[in-house]
Amino acid sequence: MEKEVLEKYKKAGRMCAEARRDTEKSFKAGMRILDIAERIEAKIMGMGGRPAFPVNISINDITAHYTPSANDQRVVERGDLVKIDVGAHVDGYIGDMAFTCCTDPDNPLVRCARKALDAGIKVIEPGVTVAEISHAIEETVSKAGLGVIVNLTGHTLDKYVFHGSPSIPNTKNNSAHRFNEGDVIALEPFVTEKKSFVKESGPVEIFRYLQDRPVRLAEARKILALARDEYGKLPFAKRWLLKQFSPIKVALALRQLEASYALERYPVLREAGGRPVAQAEDTIIVSDPPVVTTRFAEPTKKK
Ligand code: CO
Repeated sequence: MEKEVLEKYKKAGRMCAEARRDTEKSFKAGMRILDIAERIEAKIMGMGGRPAFPVNISINDITAHYTPSANDQRVVERGDLVKIDVGAHVDGYIGDMAFTCCTDPDNPLVRCARKALDAGIKVIEPGVTVAEISHAIEETVSKAGLGVIVNLTGHTLDKYVFHGSPSIPNTKNNSAHRFNEGDVIALEPFVTEKKSFVKESGPVEIFRYLQDRPVRLAEARKILALARDEYGKLPFAKRWLLKQFSPIKVALALRQLEASYALERYPVLREAGGRPVAQAEDTIIVSDPPVVTTRFAEPTKKK
């Protein structure tokens, strides 16, 4: 990997780590999740980065793809499992990181997700296979008497590509795909009471550019150009559009763009049995030793 590219990955990762530290410090019951999301996104911009996707704040059985709507009134309740998935990029080089906040710091699901992530990171070296990483993750979760979400996986990252292939399942498999020095991957175990899966649910607040298509509404054409150029074909939130366009135009435009397959939609994902889920995620550059871009490399100095 070129030095310049490595530095951008590290910079993006550090923005995620900063956002996490800031969020954990202020996290408490009663906070509006909209405020948490907006604060993180502003922080990333303030550090000279861009969000690689809208901050996802998925609570309890809501597992992924929930970003607050523009007038979201939901607040954190005592005992909630609040999964915060943060993406930052610098010129398309992405840091992808998630952590679970809970007013109970000893929540076993939260601890297990973290432990499974660490176990996955531990086996990373040039030449490691997908199967070896997946094994380390699932083994840790089953030993704790808990289960993974089988249809959510880790993934590779590339310039402006936030979910590249191959995917890295959290369940044991036979994939002999090897990762090489300089590959960038994100591991993200999701842990619940027993092995299960997520299903699609409403609402849809996150979209992504797919292709140019002719659409009638002027705002739809503007939004499509924004999705392509401004957001670099990475996912964006409906709430971001409302800073520039009226709610009625946004609703109409998104409907046209979805119907013509110009945009992809990301429905909220929920654990199928309504069970609470915890998540942990980091971005890692494959090398010996691995570089975890989304954690602080050294203990932070006291001021
Ligand atoms: Co990810």
